[in-house]
Amino acid sequence: MKILNFGSLNIDKVYQVKDFVRPGETISSKKLEFFCGGKGLNQSIAISRAGAPVYHAGCIGYDGDMLSDALTASHIHTEYLKKLEIPTGHAIIQVSDTGQNCIILFGGANQAITESQIRETLSHFSAGDILLLQNEINHLALLIEQAFEKGMQIYLNPSPVTEQLKEISLDKISCLILNEIEAADLCASEWEKQKLAASSLPESPKECARALHSLYPGLQILLTMGTGGSIFLSGQKFHFQEAFPVNAVDTTAAGDTFTGYFIAAVSRGDTAEAAMEEAAKASAIAVTRAGASASIPLREEVLAWK
Ligand code: RIB
Repeated sequence: MKILNFGSLNIDKVYQVKDFVRPGETISSKKLEFFCGGKGLNQSIAISRAGAPVYHAGCIGYDGDMLSDALTASHIHTEYLKKLEIPTGHAIIQVSDTGQNCIILFGGANQAITESQIRETLSHFSAGDILLLQNEINHLALLIEQAFEKGMQIYLNPSPVTEQLKEISLDKISCLILNEIEAADLCASEWEKQKLAASSLPESPKECARALHSLYPGLQILLTMGTGGSIFLSGQKFHFQEAFPVNAVDTTAAGDTFTGYFIAAVSRGDTAEAAMEEAAKASAIAVTRAGASASIPLREEVLAWK
């Protein structure tokens, strides 16, 4: 079974601030650093550091060599990565003194995926292979359509939840990996699509996950809740994994680390329970370090931790 991650690559411009800027306010930052990021790139690096081979497809621009170099340095297959004569995607990230982050994306090359790149890339994969997707590239619906027709297992991290994402039919997805905010947004959009009574809209993230699972019983759902742990729903199975307590300095890419470690473990045949425990440890380590992909630990460190 091969793993293909068709996903974004961003140059992360990370500003260290005391508190996030508020509407109408001007603030000074304490520090500016540049990191390799993008949910796609981070998740590929997490999969690879967790010990599983992964192919990364997507687009960088003329200024994106640091991103392709980072993939290669992490032993990720890059033959389906294209370099275009437009700017690379980037993210403007504020990290506060409490380690929280907020992010503005500029799509750049991530939004220039073509239908022929999709067709060509998918022709190298077959039924049973895993396709991992986030929502930072264009043509997501087409990718899902074509991968579903081939019988690939589709893991979707619906981040960020946008109008494009709301068009996706979840019945083609094998596993949804999402956080609390995404669960609430997706639930609200399903309620609207299926014309369900607004009064019956679930309130808590856990209820949202359960509601999505009952609307799509074939869908596995992995909900991450930061320090509140994570839950997994599959068929009749329900599993809760606690988060490991640490002092967070930067939570950027914690979810990406969790996603990559979970998929790597599942692809080598581990149970969801074992995969979640390892993923929870890896993301706990990641939040104690600065940066996105730079913070993702190697599997040896995770296995030796606690
Ligand atoms: O999940 C963190 C990532 O989100 C950052 O690396 C940034 O590039 C955005 O894609």
